[in-house]
Amino acid sequence: MIIPVILSGGAGTRLWPLSRELYPKQLLPLVDEGTMLQNTVGRLAGVSDLAAPLVVCNESHRFMVAEQLRLVERPASAIILEPVGRNTAPAVAVAALQALADGDDPLLLVLPADHVIRDAASLCTVVEGGRRLAEQGSLITFGVVPTGPETGYGYIKAGSALETGVDSPAYAVARFVEKPDLVTASRYLEEGGYFWNSGMFLFKASRYLEELERLAPAMVSACRGSFAGAVRDLDFTRLEPAAFAGCPSDSIDYAVMEKTADAVVLPLDAGWNDVGSWSALWEVGTRDGDGNVLRGDVLVQDSRNCYLHADNRMIAAVGLEDHVVVETADAVLVARRDRVQDVKAIVEQLKARK
Ligand code: GDD
Ligand code: MG
Repeated sequence: MIIPVILSGGAGTRLWPLSRELYPKQLLPLVDEGTMLQNTVGRLAGVSDLAAPLVVCNESHRFMVAEQLRLVERPASAIILEPVGRNTAPAVAVAALQALADGDDPLLLVLPADHVIRDAASLCTVVEGGRRLAEQGSLITFGVVPTGPETGYGYIKAGSALETGVDSPAYAVARFVEKPDLVTASRYLEEGGYFWNSGMFLFKASRYLEELERLAPAMVSACRGSFAGAVRDLDFTRLEPAAFAGCPSDSIDYAVMEKTADAVVLPLDAGWNDVGSWSALWEVGTRDGDGNVLRGDVLVQDSRNCYLHADNRMIAAVGLEDHVVVETADAVLVARRDRVQDVKAIVEQLKARK
């Protein structure tokens, strides 16, 4: 059995002013009519022996998460509520504890709730290709062919080919480096043989906990304590707050994937994009003949390669090129498309004002 574990705890600050603390990007319909969370569970239909998803999110998002999954008829088997974010390694650990508490030792398919994958069928085929190795104890990642020296991703160097039992390739991970600097990332691209880590994983629940226990014992003991003291009501599992707050914060990439000897990479060619910024949304969006992505009530004249999003009022753009304009009820973002990474700095300024 495969249980999808949906990580829905991020804030998506680079997509301000649409993505907010109380309404982060994974809960928004950013690309089509479904929210990113709904699309994440909706694209798994081609995976066999699939259980209901387990979602791990912040307590403040619980009703939106439950409602959004109900609307796509994929209610979660449990929604695990974090009182505070402790990054992805603990989030996956509590999901593993929940899965084991429910009985068997299933495979967990860890999925960020905020990615776009154009070709769901290819994703499902690759997941099937990982089943046997995951059952045998491998910690599987899905690798995307890099298109540039991005520093926001993990880099995976593929090693020797492995037998999957089906017609899809797998390689031992020779090296996993989380978020290298620009010089290092450029060197990897020149050297060749590297994938970007897509941030999705497949492994047995017990195997992940075993590896985390070895590499970060304090984290596992805090997660166990918090899970043991959890309060359950309806589909919600509320982690015991004091123990979880005391858990060290780290990502699965740094805590486990960089260090384990049992990592395996499956190449994934499925139109993956982690839509981390407005320019990524422009890239994955449907463009008009002039390369503009227009969302909501927007009028354009002689404008090219812009991303224009109107929530409440009309946007009219004349002679605009390579810009992003995002209009919401209480804020308007106007930015050059090549500067959208710096939206993060605006969010920092806003936090300092509070
Ligand atoms: N429940 C929960 N709790 N979810 C979390 C938390 C948390 O504390 N922190 C992050 N998440 C969720 C985010 O919402 C996102 O869906 C996913 O976990 C990954 O977290 P990010 O913060 O977006 O990670 P990243 O993008 O910097 O890096 C990861 O993804 C890259 C690909 O997009 C790494 O796995 C990289 O190696 C990878 O290349
Ligand atoms: Mg991300």
